[in-house]
Amino acid sequence: MSDPRENTEEVCLPEIIQGGMGIAVSNWCLARAVAQCGELGVVSGTAMDTVLVRRLQDGDPDGHMRRALAAFPDQRMVAPILGKWFIPGGRLEGKPYRLKSLPTVEMSREDEALLIVANFVEVYLAKEGHGGYVGINLLEKIQLPTLPSLFGAMLAGVDAVLMGGGIPLAIPGVLDALARMEPVELKLHMVSTATEQAHVLRFDPTQFTSAAIQPLKRPQFLAVISSDVLAKTLVRKASGSVDGFVVEHYTAGGHNAPPRREGAYTERDVCNIEKLPALGKPFWLAGGCSSPERFQAAKAAGARGIQVGTAFACTEESGILPAIKAEIIQRYRQNDLEVITDFHASPTGYPFKRVELKEQTTTEPCRVCDLGYLRHVFEKEDGSIAYRCPAGPTARYLANGGTEEEAKGKHCLCNGLLATIGLGQIRDGQPIPPLVTWGEDMSFLEAILEPQDSSYSVERLINYLRSEVTVSA
Ligand SMILES: Cc1cc2nc3c(=O)[nH]c(=O)nc-3n(C[C@H](O)[C@H](O)[C@H](O)COP(=O)(O)O)c2cc1C
Repeated sequence: MSDPRENTEEVCLPEIIQGGMGIAVSNWCLARAVAQCGELGVVSGTAMDTVLVRRLQDGDPDGHMRRALAAFPDQRMVAPILGKWFIPGGRLEGKPYRLKSLPTVEMSREDEALLIVANFVEVYLAKEGHGGYVGINLLEKIQLPTLPSLFGAMLAGVDAVLMGGGIPLAIPGVLDALARMEPVELKLHMVSTATEQAHVLRFDPTQFTSAAIQPLKRPQFLAVISSDVLAKTLVRKASGSVDGFVVEHYTAGGHNAPPRREGAYTERDVCNIEKLPALGKPFWLAGGCSSPERFQAAKAAGARGIQVGTAFACTEESGILPAIKAEIIQRYRQNDLEVITDFHASPTGYPFKRVELKEQTTTEPCRVCDLGYLRHVFEKEDGSIAYRCPAGPTARYLANGGTEEEAKGKHCLCNGLLATIGLGQIRDGQPIPPLVTWGEDMSFLEAILEPQDSSYSVERLINYLRSEVTVSA
């Protein structure tokens, strides 16, 4: 193998994208089921290192983690991970998970290796045993793990990288360079600086793998956006090729782009789709698109297809605990489900859609920052780098230069989202309550779910979305 470009397959991605949903809601099982149906299955790459070490501490009961780990190209990176985290038979009941160190700018080699391996594992399993397409979703706002995560996913042959939650101008060039096995950099976003120094994140793939496996396939890059202006900026200014767009409406689950007018969305926050075809890139519409009518209408408007989140989050294959899925489905049927657009909850500062569960043991948000994916990076007076999370202990946040206003109403997304997929921490003998993000539109449910049923599969959802409809002109 010589020229990396020979390895850049022209991939025509499918019409239905199962949206990336963190943390591990869109896990390998979900993405694999979607890819096996011929559509694009997307694993979430968010916090994969913690997800892997927790699955290993739970004893990896079905052996999937260890099977994927055995397929990693450099077993010298795998042995220390298994040695440190795998507990045969799983943790003792009620025992808290051991924590890995928090992500930092100068990450240890051990932490980088864990990120590479963890992202490899998720993509490897999602791609195992079929020829369908698998993507990975990462958030621009969570920068510190990005470079090793992308590399791990590429080692497993990921077909597409989808990124939103910010303006991912630098990522296309990073993918080009990683495919050539060259060192890469990302300019670090900081919430405040004291000096003129530019701080960068660096990653050198050759430090982790032998020359025998280079070069790598360059995945397609799809930016998740909510405005045509942003799409245009990305096409013009990105460091490499942006291969398409997912255009998210503000009704979509997860984080949303901030509205133009503070505190409420209006028609002005909706992307002007007519402007997109001129950019010459395929695009997919997301947010309340889960019906054959909307799928066909999206195509009629020039889109390649749709990206669907919430309807896949409900499926049997998604990572959400079955009891939580069942509660949400039941409450929607009883007309008792409220999806809140919470403008304060997320440490990212972006609006975040969530539902409150009935059996919440406490309504007090947990304020212990022990995972740290959403910590803000800032520069101290002396130019050194420090971290603070508005959802962490308030006194510490204020002492580090944060404000009361920023800390108000914040939720620890890291811990809450892990609890939603059954990997929640036990603190002071109590499980941390789940935090569930959700989309506004669940009207698909009536069409998919028979009255006597309480769950459905990925295949059933995809067959429904593909079913024939007559779209009136
Ligand atoms: C549970 C859940 C988690 C999500 N997490 C992410 C995420 O980590 N990254 C991301 O880009 N989008 C995320 N999203 C958005 C989805 O990828 C998708 O674009 C959106 O759900 C589409 O709207 P719909 O929910 O109406 O189908 C999430 C959505 C849901 C429902």
